[in-house]
Amino acid sequence: MRTIIEPFRIKSVEPIRMTTPDERRALLQAASFNLFGLASDDVMIDLLTDSGTSAMSAAQWGSVMRGDESYAGSPSFYRFEKAVKNLMPFKHIIPTHQGRAAEAILFSIVGGAGEQIPSNTHFDTTRGNIEATGATAVDLVIAEGHDPDSLHPFKGNIDLERLEALLASAGEHVPMVMMTVTNNAGGGQPVSLENLRAASELAHRYGKPFFIDGCRFAENAWFIKCREPAQGDRPVTDIVRDMFAVADGMTMSAKKDAFANIGGWLAMNDDVLAAAARNRLILTEGFPTYGGLAGRDLDAIATGLEEIVDEQYLRYRVRTNEYIGDALLALGVPIVRPVGGHAVFVDARRLLPHIPPLSYPGQSLAVALYERGGIRSCEIGTVMFGLQPDGTEKAADMDLVRLAMPRRVYTQSHADYLVEVFEELVGVRESLRGLRIVSQPPRLRHFTAKFEPLA
Ligand code: F0G
Repeated sequence: MRTIIEPFRIKSVEPIRMTTPDERRALLQAASFNLFGLASDDVMIDLLTDSGTSAMSAAQWGSVMRGDESYAGSPSFYRFEKAVKNLMPFKHIIPTHQGRAAEAILFSIVGGAGEQIPSNTHFDTTRGNIEATGATAVDLVIAEGHDPDSLHPFKGNIDLERLEALLASAGEHVPMVMMTVTNNAGGGQPVSLENLRAASELAHRYGKPFFIDGCRFAENAWFIKCREPAQGDRPVTDIVRDMFAVADGMTMSAKKDAFANIGGWLAMNDDVLAAAARNRLILTEGFPTYGGLAGRDLDAIATGLEEIVDEQYLRYRVRTNEYIGDALLALGVPIVRPVGGHAVFVDARRLLPHIPPLSYPGQSLAVALYERGGIRSCEIGTVMFGLQPDGTEKAADMDLVRLAMPRRVYTQSHADYLVEVFEELVGVRESLRGLRIVSQPPRLRHFTAKFEPLA
């Protein structure tokens, strides 16, 4: 069969409030043209993020009822720990309320002024948490990762030569090597098993621990199965285990590839690091067997981890994004290719060449998608990455707009509607204007910056 159907039925639904373009223009004005400022009831199709927005399964809701809220030693924690170790057999599994809490704890221990932490591409919260300690976040993705047209199968790979050069020249200031799977900020592109192994080997040769930011590990493993030589016949769970077998630890947001609405963890093998992390956890999150989560959340994560490695689901998941990507390409909308695991990334800089990067073509497109279609997306470009630690501003590598797909939430007709909105936008693209920022915070400005359209 050519049609890949959603591998689930819908048992519980939420209504979508339909709005008009006039209403949405007023709402945009009130939100200072920052889509994070909108009430989600005013959004028809919310593609702001795939994080925490998954539809939980009946089995997960059953797990929620089973959740045990004991302060210490809850059976929910042990179920959570067992489910994590089944896929990622690290010695210490430390629950946190979400991924960035794991990052904050990790970098409060290994970061600090003068340190440099390389990765393929750090996600913005990872970068923010590294920089908050005075350290530098270094992105070393391969050159193809910067080329939206390159069809390299693993555009999330790290550039091993540049990694080695950094380790050779400044190794004493590199406390660890990281890798983000899939590489969210680089278009949701996967990392190959071969590259993970080589990066780990390199890190270890220089005596450095190797950590994986595993937010979208199952999507990455699916790409490995589909694209990497000799992996096609292997179960996804085995591939996942191989990915983490070469790591010394991981950070995780369970809001992605665990189908949970909240949660995360920090894991490692090193006892000394784990002891320091748990001390910090007690200060900032909670006791080590709940770490900022309710027992019911730990149980929902445990069940979600069993479901996320289902290959029928992963096939449908990745195909959903390809379906949208193919339709946008047919309209002449430039996108990052191949389509990523959790999102379609539109190349706004190329779609709107009349808007210079420092007038934020990505923000302009995101605003237009909302105004015309009630669709909320997210700029991943100069607004998100352009503000430098010293307060100056420069163009990001790319100005992308991310259409992130919540897991198991929208159907094919939502996708068709999205494509139709793009069709309309393509017809009027020259009329779209850039914006200027009228106020912004010193870090992670995209969440709260206020904008004004240029005349
Ligand atoms: N690492 C990556 C690769 C991420 O994509 C995210 C979150 C985090 C870490 C932080 O996890 O949100 O649980 O604190 N990404 C979301 C997104 C916010 O929309 O891409 P968190």
